[in-house]
Amino acid sequence: MRVLVIGSGAREHALCLSLAADPTVTSLICAPGNAGTAAVAEQRGVDPMNGPAVAALAAEVAADLVVIGPEAPLVAGVADAVRAAGIDCFGPSREAAQLEGSKAFAKDVMHAAGVPTAAARVCVDEAQAAAALDEFGPPYVVKDDGLAAGKGVVVTPDRAAALAHAVACGRVVIEEYLDGPEVSLFCLTDGSAVVPMVAAQDFKRIGDGDTGPNTGGMGAYAPLSWLPVGLTDEIVRTVAQPTVDEMARRGTPFAGLLYIGLAMTGRGPRVVEFNARFGDPETQVVLALLESPLGALLQAAATGTLAAHPPLQWHDGSAVTVVLAAANYPDTPRVGDVITGAEQTGIIHAGTRRRHDGAIISSGGRVLSATAVGQTLAAARERAYALVSRVELEGGQARSDIALRAERGEISV
Ligand code: AMP
Ligand code: GLY
Repeated sequence: MRVLVIGSGAREHALCLSLAADPTVTSLICAPGNAGTAAVAEQRGVDPMNGPAVAALAAEVAADLVVIGPEAPLVAGVADAVRAAGIDCFGPSREAAQLEGSKAFAKDVMHAAGVPTAAARVCVDEAQAAAALDEFGPPYVVKDDGLAAGKGVVVTPDRAAALAHAVACGRVVIEEYLDGPEVSLFCLTDGSAVVPMVAAQDFKRIGDGDTGPNTGGMGAYAPLSWLPVGLTDEIVRTVAQPTVDEMARRGTPFAGLLYIGLAMTGRGPRVVEFNARFGDPETQVVLALLESPLGALLQAAATGTLAAHPPLQWHDGSAVTVVLAAANYPDTPRVGDVITGAEQTGIIHAGTRRRHDGAIISSGGRVLSATAVGQTLAAARERAYALVSRVELEGGQARSDIALRAERGEISV
C-alpha cells in the first residue's frame, strides 16, 4: 500500500514512523513534512490547505491511502477533495470536522447525543458574555468558538480577563469549570464502528505544576495506571458511540479519529473537547505503544471496514514524551535557531527544517519532542528526560514534571 501523509508536525512524524514499520506500507510520502519526516518518508511540497492540490499530489504519487494529520485542512474540506478524486482518505469530511472546528457545534451534538459535558452558553457580545460569566462563576472558562491551535481557551479566576478574552474573540463558548484530572482518549471510527486506543494524558500549560498559559501541549504519557478499570469502555458507550451515531443520523458521518478530551470530575467523566484528528503530543506516546500495524488500521477506518479489523495489540509498559518548545512560546516563538541532537532515535520533530548548509533549525513553537518507552512509567520518564537533555536549542523550554505525579501515584479519581 502506498500512503501519503499530509502535515508537518510531531503527529505526522510519529504517524510516519509507525506507518514505515508496517510491512504492508510499501511506499510512504509526507507533504510538506519536516526535518524528521524527511528521514523516513519521501518528502513532497504541497499546501495542506489546498484540497485540489492535495488530491492531485495523491494521484501523482499513486497513493492508496491519504492520511490528513492536522485539523485546519480537515475543517477546510481537504479530505472531501481527496475522496472526490476516488482515493481513500483517513480523516473526516468538512462537515464532520465541525466537531472540532466549532465548539458551539460540538456542544450541540453532545447535547443531542446525551453526552456528559460542561454546561455552556454561546455568547456573541459583551452583555451575553458577562451574563454567562456570572451564571457560572469563577474559575471562568472562555473558549474561542473556532480553531485556535489549543490557544483559544482561557481559564482564569479573573473576571475582567475572562471578559476581555470573550470580547476579543467575538463568538465564544463560556462554560462551567470542570475539576479533575484530564484524559485524552483516541477513538478510531469508520462512521459506525468505534475502536478505542490506549488512554493518555497531556500537559497543556507551559510551566511546571500546570502554571502559565495554555499551549498546544508540553508532554504526555500513556497508559494511565490511575484510570478506573472499565473506564475506556464506559467512555466508548457514553461518549464516542453516541457521538458517532448522532453524526451518522444527521447525514454527516464522522470517520477518522475522534479525539475525546475529558475531565474526571467527582460526578464522573465530562467531555472537555472533541478534536477531529490525532492529538499532539499524545500521538507520540499512543503510537509508541501500538503493536498492531497502523496502515491497515487507518485503511479500515477510511473504508468502512473497522468492525472486521482484529482487536488492537499493545506493547507492555509505558511511554512518555517531553516537548521542547522554542523561546517565547506560546506567545511569538523565536525561530531559526540551530538544534543539535535532533537526529537521535526517539526525537519526534515538529517545528524543524533543514537549512541549506544541512543544519536542523527551529521553525515553530513546539520544536520537537523526546519520546521513550520503558517497562515502568519511571523508566520511560527517565529515558525521555535523558533524551531531551541531549538536545540543544538556545532558549528551549521543556517542563520538568511530565508524568511525575502519575509516577508518584499522586493522581486519583
Ligand atoms: P480545549 O481547547 O477545549 O481543550 O481547552 C484547552 C484546555 O483548557 C483543556 O485541556 C483544559 O485544560 C482547559 N479547559 C477547557 N475547558 C475546561 C473546563 N470546562 N473546565 C476546566 N478546564 C477547562
Ligand atoms: N493535545 C491536545 C491537542 O492535540 O489538541
